[in-house]
Amino acid sequence: MKNVFIMDHPLIQHKISLLRKKETGTNEFRRLVEEIAVLIGFEAFRDLPLEDVEVETPIETCMTPMLAGKKLAVVPVLRAGLGMVNGITTLVPSAKIGHIGLYRDPETHEPHEYYCKLPVPIEQRQIVVVDPMLATGGSAVAAVDFIKKHGGKTIKCMFIIAAPEGIERLTKAHPDVQVYVGHLDRELNEAAYICPGLGDAGDRIFGTK
Ligand code: URA
Repeated sequence: MKNVFIMDHPLIQHKISLLRKKETGTNEFRRLVEEIAVLIGFEAFRDLPLEDVEVETPIETCMTPMLAGKKLAVVPVLRAGLGMVNGITTLVPSAKIGHIGLYRDPETHEPHEYYCKLPVPIEQRQIVVVDPMLATGGSAVAAVDFIKKHGGKTIKCMFIIAAPEGIERLTKAHPDVQVYVGHLDRELNEAAYICPGLGDAGDRIFGTK
């Protein structure tokens, strides 16, 4: 599928399997989410532009490539997306951080926004929306809608686990957005949880119930 990149790296698959285990505790869960964000980010940032700059080594002066072009903004979807932020800033420490707060209506499962703060000017930034789970796609579509409404133009989304329903909905609504996924799971259940999934990512990251 165009603009959808499903990771097949063994380290990502191994770490996702550890995440799924119900006995994996908060501490380890949080660390794994961060590590997986680094590994997915490593692939998602493969196309970041470079420019040659002059650097003086202890031996001689040389031209050598460094990141150029648009600055990065990472936008976690609250609250579970927060767990992936440190992974992204490990890779690109200068990234600015925006926040989008959405909650799911427990009956309709549709997202409602309660908070949004984005770095400005957002149109000049490469934006990376992060959320561990792409379930119905409602929150992801709403987050990208919102970023575009504020002027965001170059947007990637990163998820650790996705359901086919979420991929379908997000790519239909935003075919221009590149979607990076650690693992594509089987389906959603009637409560809109991903199966086999890992349960509620926010609760597992923050140790709540
Ligand atoms: N959000 C989660 O945290 N888990 C799911 O399975 C679906 C949405």
